[in-house]
This record gives sequence, structure tokens and C-alpha cells, in this order.
Amino acid sequence: MKIKIGNINILITETYREMSKKAASLVTAQVIIKPNSILGLATGSTPAGMYKEMVKIYNSDQVDYSEIKSFNLDEYYPIKKYNKQSYAYYMDQHLFKHINISNQHIFIPNGECEDVETECRAYDERIHILGGIDLQVLGIGVNGHIGFNEPDVHFESRTHMVTLDEDTIKANARFFPSKDEVPSRAISMGIRTIMDSKKILLLANGLGKAEIIHRTVFGEISPNVPASILQLHKDVTIILDKDAAEQVLNHAKCNEA
Ligand code: GLP
Repeated sequence: MKIKIGNINILITETYREMSKKAASLVTAQVIIKPNSILGLATGSTPAGMYKEMVKIYNSDQVDYSEIKSFNLDEYYPIKKYNKQSYAYYMDQHLFKHINISNQHIFIPNGECEDVETECRAYDERIHILGGIDLQVLGIGVNGHIGFNEPDVHFESRTHMVTLDEDTIKANARFFPSKDEVPSRAISMGIRTIMDSKKILLLANGLGKAEIIHRTVFGEISPNVPASILQLHKDVTIILDKDAAEQVLNHAKCNEA
């Protein structure tokens, strides 16, 4: 099912698997149409199914990633690349080791850098010099964060150091041996960096995301719900499973009645 709310195209699927397959088809189409695309990639449990489907398509259809460059949204700080909870490790396990992307084309904020300020500036500059992100994949936190841009009083524009919200630390503790081991900081692309992407694809599944998806799409545009800024982007697609779509669908039905 497809609906359009303002500028945002929403695709609603029955299951997580279907959501992942649709997302994988869209990303793969981007790679086929523009083989030297710059992809913006996300981590978390939501896009894991999409990466699995992308690898399947890669294995059956010989999609060529050799000219693709990728920039990840964020990384914990401080964290070692080989730490199994790092996003660098996540990306390698879920996608990069399975496809023919060149190591030189993979960019992830360096969770081991000493000079964070310089790292952040260089990250944005590199994206800019390469011509900008063609397609940015996003998940969403239960508090509306995208990347690690937490609710705030203003939109932080460029790649920057973030102090994680207690909610985010709690939510992400499931990936760590204990909550105490979740780093309290991260480096994240900023809202402007994300909004500069030519296309955006946001994924969400599960009832736990239903309320924040509703606020993202219908709510006031406010740094208090960072994802709400997407209402101002010209080319956003959101793919939801039916649980994450629950409140959006109810709202749309009420307005029809
Ligand atoms: C993390 C990431 C986000 C991600 C969010 C949601 O905090 N920094 O990029 O979108 O979690 O994660 P999940 O998909 O596991 O719900």
C-alpha cells in the first residue's frame, strides 16, 4: 500500500521481510542506475534485513559495487574498529564483506580518532568533494533521532560529537554485554548533512516505532523530534511494516471519514 503525506511517500508492507526486500530493491536500483553512486548507510536492527536482501540480490544478479562509495551516518565514540559493537564491525558483517565494494570507498566516522573536530570537518568535506550523497538510508530512534541526532533545542547541522540520551543508551544496551558498556558519546552526521542528500529512504518496523513515525510525518517540525525535518526534504520515501504504520494509517483513515 502507498500513501503520500506532504512531500513524503510512504510504502506500507505486511512484514519486516517485505519492508527489507523493498528497501533492498530501491538501494540496488540506485547502484544499477548510477554505478558510481554515493550511498549513505545506517546501522541498528532495522536495516539488517535490508542488507541481507541486498547481499542476496548481489549474489544472484552480480550487481557491481566496485565504483560505489559509502558514508555511514554515525559511530560510537570512543570505540575500536574491531570492537564487535562498533558500527564499523556491523557494516563489515552485514554488508561490506559480502559485496565487491572497495575498502578505500568505505567511510565511517572514526571512533578512534583523537581530534574529533578535525575528523568531523574532514568527513563533511569529503562528502561534499565527492558530489554529495545520492541516497541516504535512515532508521529512526524511538525518540525520533536520525543518525545520532538526539532531540534538542536546535538542529545541529554538520557532522559532530553527540552525547547520547539516556533512552538511546537503554535502547542500544541490547547490543552490548551490559548497559554500562554502551559509550555515552558518538560522532554523527548532522541534520544538514543528512538533508543535503539527494534522496532519503527511512525504514521502521514494529509497534514501538508507530508513535514516533506518526509524529515524524504529521507532527510539528521541531528539533525535539529530529526526524520531523524530513517533511521539508523533496525526495523522501518511508517504508514501514504494518505495525510501525499503525498510527499513520489510523490518522489517514480518520481524515478520510
Ligand atoms: C541507533 C542508530 C540509528 C538507528 C537507531 C534505531 O541509535 N544510531 O542510526 O536508526 O539506533 O535503531 P534500531 O533500528 O535498532 O531500532
